[in-house]
Amino acid sequence: MDKLIITGGTQLSGELRISGAKNAALPILAATLLCEEPVTVGNIPHLHDITTTMQLLGQMGVQLTIDEKMNIEVHSSTITKFEAPYELVKTMRASILVLGPLLARFGEANVSLPGGCAIGSRPVDIHIDALIKMGADIQVEAGYIHAKVDRLKGCKLILDKVTVTGTENLLMAATLAEGTTIIENAAKEPEVSDLAHFLNAMGAKITGIDTAILTIEGVEKLDNKNIHYNILPDRIETGTYLIAAAITRGSIKLKDVRPGTLDAVLDKLKEAGAEITIGENWIKLDMHGKKPKAVNIRTAPYPAFPTDMQAQFTALNIVAEGVGTITETVFENRFMHVQEMQRMGANIQLESNTAICTGSEKITAAPVMATDLRASASLVIAGLAAEGDTLVDRIYHIDRGYDHIEEKLSQLGATIRRIPR
Ligand code: EPU
Repeated sequence: MDKLIITGGTQLSGELRISGAKNAALPILAATLLCEEPVTVGNIPHLHDITTTMQLLGQMGVQLTIDEKMNIEVHSSTITKFEAPYELVKTMRASILVLGPLLARFGEANVSLPGGCAIGSRPVDIHIDALIKMGADIQVEAGYIHAKVDRLKGCKLILDKVTVTGTENLLMAATLAEGTTIIENAAKEPEVSDLAHFLNAMGAKITGIDTAILTIEGVEKLDNKNIHYNILPDRIETGTYLIAAAITRGSIKLKDVRPGTLDAVLDKLKEAGAEITIGENWIKLDMHGKKPKAVNIRTAPYPAFPTDMQAQFTALNIVAEGVGTITETVFENRFMHVQEMQRMGANIQLESNTAICTGSEKITAAPVMATDLRASASLVIAGLAAEGDTLVDRIYHIDRGYDHIEEKLSQLGATIRRIPR
């Protein structure tokens, strides 16, 4: 397994381009299953989860062509199998996103249940219950969801909980349903909106985009021609590099970003003492060489503070001035990074779903283990501020969601290198 070694102590500076959003690319690639015509998706990030998605679609018989600029052309009419096997789902939970489109277009889907993961139990009951309400016959047997339907029927769906992939699955399913579907308490994450815009580009009729009530008027087929859709920039990658710069008291400019998707994160960075300047598609952060101040964070669905950014802010808080609390309300077990940071000398106390962080004068390098994607990123960030060489093991988690992280951090002046297995 590859490892990363980070030598702490360098102030980050310079410019960086942000990649397309992983969590928009995954549902959008799944949504290509709905289209009768070939579609091209651009600004695809270079990530392991993208390779897994391509494998997932490829083993169904879908034709995929990728060019050197990471545009993927997808032709789904060659599909022969309507299955997401356990071997792929276990490495990427987002594989559940093929359930809605397969069922809507082909009337059949066999998708392995994702099961638990490092950040919590993560059930998919809301996806299943809503599809049943839309007329699907669903049996869960031997770890698989077996779903069948002649044609899904539009109806009103009130989701018990705000779920991102749940909203996305139902949004995709509803595009080809008979009649109108209304999804209430829908997730408003920018990645959900990006998917909705893509579906509309293919010929779907979705209104209420960016709100908690999505209305989908079902159509017979999605067959718009010559579609080339560019994925929106990754707000979590953006936020991660901003924190990396803040923790090192540095000054950076990130390009090809969408600042409007990061309001809650930018507010917290300002509270931490960063000077933030934004343009139409760029963000500049400058700490003016000063130590960050600790901040209090409470995660919740968009537009509130994203759970995918709390681990990185924990890293910031452990070397900041003062005491900051991080409260996680979306997932029940998303503090796996805390123990690893404590091994680096961090002063963190865990009380139920809150991590109380008291900033230390210094933290010291130690060998640490990545446990999930965002936890891994937080350990790399902690390494940038630590004294000595931090060795981060099991970085396959990072490669699932961060495009060339060591090259990008090196571009900003960090001392970081990969040790291949
Ligand atoms: N939930 C249920 N039942 C369901 C679905 C969800 O109880 O049927 C619960 C979950 O257990 C959780 C909460 O609802 O407590 C929210 O989960 P959600 O369904 O929104 O999460 P997700 O769709 O599985 C996506 C992102 C995650 C991100 C969350 C929250 C993708 C591929 N994944 O997951 O991203 O943390 O939304 O914003 O979009 C990451 O990128 O590192 C990552 C984990």
